[in-house]
Amino acid sequence: MSTTAIENLPGKTRVAKDLDDLFAALGADLIAAAHESVQERDVFHLALSGGSTPEPFYELLVTDPRWRNMPWDKTHIWIVDERRVPEDHEKSNIRMIRESLTEHAGMRKRQVHPMPVMMDDPATEYETVFKEVFGIDLETPRLDFVILGMGDDGHTASLFPHTDALNVDDRWIVVNEGENVTPPDRVTMTYPLINAARNIAVLVAGEKKASMIATIADRLRLAGPDIENLPITGIKPINGSYTWYLDQAAAGED
Ligand code: 6PG
Repeated sequence: MSTTAIENLPGKTRVAKDLDDLFAALGADLIAAAHESVQERDVFHLALSGGSTPEPFYELLVTDPRWRNMPWDKTHIWIVDERRVPEDHEKSNIRMIRESLTEHAGMRKRQVHPMPVMMDDPATEYETVFKEVFGIDLETPRLDFVILGMGDDGHTASLFPHTDALNVDDRWIVVNEGENVTPPDRVTMTYPLINAARNIAVLVAGEKKASMIATIADRLRLAGPDIENLPITGIKPINGSYTWYLDQAAAGED
């Protein structure tokens, strides 16, 4: 793929030659944002996605000496989206995040906020946790750093093509279900909450994603967002940074 296509992705694009370099780039930016946030607000609100791409990155964050000064004691962990399964289920994102990161970062229970997906109204319950932790009521909470992934169908979080969650503009969290949601049913952050973040990072690796990256870049260049078919094109920080972290395979440059 020509570098022109990549240049049409919104925000900044960082292309790394391999996963090691990709994680090094994201880790450096994450820790810089964490220290800036702690310096300014004495807290760092970090939202993590599930999936296979970020798991080794999370493990690295708590094992690699390069990141030993990450301020975990000042960090709150939020979940970008979750499958509606028990926390010990193999498909649970919080299970993966606990096992790869929070259980090794010395974080206290009150710093880690799993989505209460098995409750009747998980969206309202999680929004209430946001209000309590951020000390707010109506204004949208500003997460300091959000790590998103991207499916090869252009979804991000659990914002899947042709699903109801795409059109929600008055909630921070919603249940997303139905025939177009990859099972199991999901609970997800919405565009309003994600786009309010101070820093949005999209982590994409592997040649399987190259075609979709090119499709997104070309679509945005030619016609702008198409959230129904390409949900990730609805990600647009209101007043924050937006960076794509791609390996050369996903960028179509290898
Ligand atoms: C999830 C994620 C999801 C993920 C993409 C990419 O719950 O699965 O939040 O949005 O980021 O599906 O997943 P991979 O990184 O495994 O390709």
